[in-house]
Amino acid sequence: MKLTRLSLVLSAGLFMLITSSCDKGKSVTDGAEAKADRLVAQMTLDEKIGQMSQLDLGYFMDPEQLKQAVREGRCGSLLNFLGVEQVNEIQRIAVEESRLGIPLIIGRDVIHGYRTVFPIPLGMAASWNPEAVRKAFRISAVEASSDGIKWTFAPMIDITWDPRWGRIAEGCGEDPYLASTLAAAMVKGIQGDSLTDPTALAACAKHYVGYGFAEAGRDYNTTYIPEPLLRNVVLKPFHAAKEAGAQTFMSAFNDLNGIPTSGNRFTLKKILREEWGFDGFVVSDWASVTEMVNHGFAEDDKQAAEIAINAGVEMEMATTSYYANIKALLDEKKITMEQIDDAVRDILKVKYRLGLFDNPYTDPEAGKRILDPSFLDHARTVARQSAVLLKNEDAALPLSEDKIASVAVIGPLADAPRDQLGTWCFDGRAENSVTPLKAIRDLLGDKKVNYVQALAYSRDKSKANFSAAVAAARRSDAVLFFGGEEWILSGEGQSRGEINMPGAQTELLEALAATGKPVILVIMAGRPLAIGREIELSDAVLYAWHAGTMAGPAITDLLFGKESPSGKLPVTFVKGAGQIPFYYYRNNTGRPASDETWTPFDSIPTVNPQSSLGYRTFHLDYGYTPLLPFGYGLSYTTFKYSDLTLSSQVMKIDGTLTVRARVTNTGNMDADEIVQFYVRDRVGSITRPIKELKGYNRLRISRGETTDVEFTLTAADLAFFNGRGEVTEPGKFDVWIGPSSEEGLHADFILE
Ligand code: BGC
Repeated sequence: MKLTRLSLVLSAGLFMLITSSCDKGKSVTDGAEAKADRLVAQMTLDEKIGQMSQLDLGYFMDPEQLKQAVREGRCGSLLNFLGVEQVNEIQRIAVEESRLGIPLIIGRDVIHGYRTVFPIPLGMAASWNPEAVRKAFRISAVEASSDGIKWTFAPMIDITWDPRWGRIAEGCGEDPYLASTLAAAMVKGIQGDSLTDPTALAACAKHYVGYGFAEAGRDYNTTYIPEPLLRNVVLKPFHAAKEAGAQTFMSAFNDLNGIPTSGNRFTLKKILREEWGFDGFVVSDWASVTEMVNHGFAEDDKQAAEIAINAGVEMEMATTSYYANIKALLDEKKITMEQIDDAVRDILKVKYRLGLFDNPYTDPEAGKRILDPSFLDHARTVARQSAVLLKNEDAALPLSEDKIASVAVIGPLADAPRDQLGTWCFDGRAENSVTPLKAIRDLLGDKKVNYVQALAYSRDKSKANFSAAVAAARRSDAVLFFGGEEWILSGEGQSRGEINMPGAQTELLEALAATGKPVILVIMAGRPLAIGREIELSDAVLYAWHAGTMAGPAITDLLFGKESPSGKLPVTFVKGAGQIPFYYYRNNTGRPASDETWTPFDSIPTVNPQSSLGYRTFHLDYGYTPLLPFGYGLSYTTFKYSDLTLSSQVMKIDGTLTVRARVTNTGNMDADEIVQFYVRDRVGSITRPIKELKGYNRLRISRGETTDVEFTLTAADLAFFNGRGEVTEPGKFDVWIGPSSEEGLHADFILE
């Protein structure tokens, strides 16, 4: 056995250090503050109000009205306005025809790619590869900036425990540490090395904050989040985004503990400004200011504007309550001119930092790199690294292109170019998608591929084409079933009550499994689906999410063993909607369940004396474990974890502790393994989670080779908010290094 002495260090503490040392666009050093100050001093109140207003093109029925508004300085930003010529023309009017020549900032949602579409963010999170994610967002920024966009409403970093929530697709899943590392990577990708680079966009950390905790997963719903949960979990990725230099934050739609987040001084002023020192600007979400009337928090739009301005929302998106009411609110002394000046200064600072005053225009030649082959290559790599192998019985995968005589390609998503792009995809085009059917035909040749779509779309219930699908399966060596969800079933306003495979897909799978041919199920979806039955029916299951433009080639690479699957779940998969919420960093309860204390549903006696079912934390029907745990994912090779060692049994509170292990590729293929590092604080002043991710590393390990991996802890990594303050408490801790949140080598240490 060859031993590679490649020592990889990933310290959770180090991560924060790296992110905080990069370009934060700080006003102290960049002069933007002073320039903004000088400009504010010259502005009329109307011009100031204009800077605080962001309008959508749809607001202006007539393009001439828009031009006139810009000429008069009545709007500081536009969204959903693009195209080099259009943007340059409107910018020319702002710069040359408005009194002070203040450039516009053009915003757009570029959530997981512009023309080159990457996997949905939840899919990218499954790659556990911040560098690949950074590069994906860099590419997106290069493409988007070539169309005149200078600001994107990304990253979307809402933690959620609820797969019913349609917007789970847009975020990084359930874990605060994984989401924080990816949030920082996304911000760095969007903003690039220097904000004045023409390809840099300003990032916008959204939705601040708590939106992912919508009750019952119904979008826009009320959230109740106790402060320890808010600070220990929900705020973490936002803090990481701020530390990575995110120039803007978006206040959310949701009501948080009774105070809508677009009128919430505690989160916007106390935490974001006072505690974190954020010095960019805050934009509202679409109409989230005036929606405070619906929330029952403001009487009318005017009061909504007052509340939002007092809470620190500096730019209003899409609605015009600022425009209509600021003057009256000033006259009535409900807000102050100082607040208006502060808001305008923050907005102008970002415009200065982006170099918009020096170079307001977009180079018409910049678009030449759109869909550059290197971009598509990266989209293929990220899609490959995002797919998670959930089952592989008897090594059903990979298929061998030489040995296989023919495959049946079945299902509603085998050739669905728009669906594979996923939600929040304004600019990706179906005609650029390479579907799995196309990629498999390219690899094997048309003759070896027996294609029957069978279901026209994922919700299709018609069984009319089942017999053709079964016939295709019978004359093939293996069945590749591409199912899941259409893109429209996830995303904003697209929550589901059930999270099963829609339509007649499961029945089709049953019919295919009955042929006795190996059935490979590839799921393309915007959320974790409850697929226990479908896993049982299949020999192998690959969870590919909505994987973007290059989904087809990426999935084909994996099915035919050009590369091993390596993604790991960024979110717990539940058995059914009734098990929600189920997240790995839950607390233990006074009565945790175990195999010994749980009676399987079908074994419950019919004559049952009170007291016999265990009195533990479980569901009679679901049991006490999820369908699949956080961090789970298989490979075509096998990895053995060994030799867990600690630098010491005792960690001093002002010191560090290094935890090491060895990982050996014991199988037959070179592959990546995502090594995970978890900690448990045994006793706390508030109860502590049974496990918390504190580090991870995606490692390439050749077959037969061993890699050393190490993670270093500092006291800051063990700190938590206990309701009164941030504390690191001495005592006993567990550590694990392993392949998922449920497996791993274990040791413990004392913090003193
Ligand atoms: C969404 C935001 C988005 C905005 C602008 C809203 O409906 O919640 O995420 O950035 O629209 O498109």
